[in-house]
Amino acid sequence: MTGNEPKALLRALEHERVWPPPVWLMRQAGRYLPEYRQVRAEAGSFLALCYDPARAAEVTLQPIRRFGFDAAIIFSDILVVPHALGQPLTFAEGEGPRLEPLETVPAFDQAAFRRHLAPVYAALAETRARLPRETALIGFAGAPWTLAAYMLDGRGHDFPRALAEMRQDGVVFGQLIDLLVESVIEHLVAQVEAGAEAVQVFDSWAGLLSEAEAEIWSLAPLLRIAAGFVGRCPGVPLIVFPRNAPPAVLQALAEDGRIAGLSLGSDVDPDWAARVLQPRLTPQGNLDPRLLVEGGTALDAGLDRLTASLGEGPWIMNLGHGILPETPPQNVARLVERLRTAS
Ligand code: CP3
Repeated sequence: MTGNEPKALLRALEHERVWPPPVWLMRQAGRYLPEYRQVRAEAGSFLALCYDPARAAEVTLQPIRRFGFDAAIIFSDILVVPHALGQPLTFAEGEGPRLEPLETVPAFDQAAFRRHLAPVYAALAETRARLPRETALIGFAGAPWTLAAYMLDGRGHDFPRALAEMRQDGVVFGQLIDLLVESVIEHLVAQVEAGAEAVQVFDSWAGLLSEAEAEIWSLAPLLRIAAGFVGRCPGVPLIVFPRNAPPAVLQALAEDGRIAGLSLGSDVDPDWAARVLQPRLTPQGNLDPRLLVEGGTALDAGLDRLTASLGEGPWIMNLGHGILPETPPQNVARLVERLRTAS
């Protein structure tokens, strides 16, 4: 190795079949790791950890040291974007995030936005400096629809206010989506400037929308972000994760041509993905996170099934959603070992 070979993750995102396939896991830094819980306790709170560059870099590196994943994802949260737009944010212990529900759509102040997020960019730079050469660094952001849902309801899983505003109005809701398209592009570009080599956009709540709504409020903003981001960071791959989105939306994202990777939720049939999506871009996923909790032969069988479906083409191994906190770390080690010794 000269140390200059293209990284496995980036090769896969250029639509190359890489063997063994690159692997990383959503929420790979987190509560299932005792060393994470320790640094989180030292930081005092989840948000303090997000805005502490040295500690955020440290917890980003922990799963790389333990498991040797092909990519590190910067330790942060999608809700730092609404926070940077001026919306008060807290994380109540054991309850998840709380935003003060939005009353008016703020104006975008680029300088204040970048200043607020400077610790995230510092964490990326520090992480890149400390990562092994062969490990790619991923930056990320939430998608406009998912961010708008948290911003309007302030919390939760069902987002009644966001759904009502989206269905009734269109004008104010559309202004909020426009603001978020601009903010997300800005945040992704700044992360690349700080050292991110690929970026992922999470539309975690795309599945709450009907197909027609998803085309307007999930797909269209994602395509605007793709156009804006690729224009400003040519050659830096973009991965999108529209969780539980209708198949027509996944197909449209694959056909756009600007998106390098499509992260698939556990609801997507890997044989369908191999046939319909994989010829156009690189699928990422989509092992059920519950199999990683279960471990043993159930985990092996799940992984083998995915390998049989997606392993013939470009593919990034990942989960269909984030690691569950009760996941035994030794099951993660087993997964990586089995994948790397597969033929
Ligand atoms: O390792 C990584 O994947 C990077 C870090 C990361 C976190 N959040 C850390 C985190 C990433 C990529 C996210 C994204 C995120 N945050 C999403 C999109 C992905 C998804 O899960 O659908 C969403 C919807 C959020 C908002 C959010 N943050 C929620 C709903 C919660 C509470 C749920 C929970 O697991 O507690 C969080 C908290 C959060 N974000 C934690 C972590 C490690 C747990 C907080 C803790 O340590 O107590």
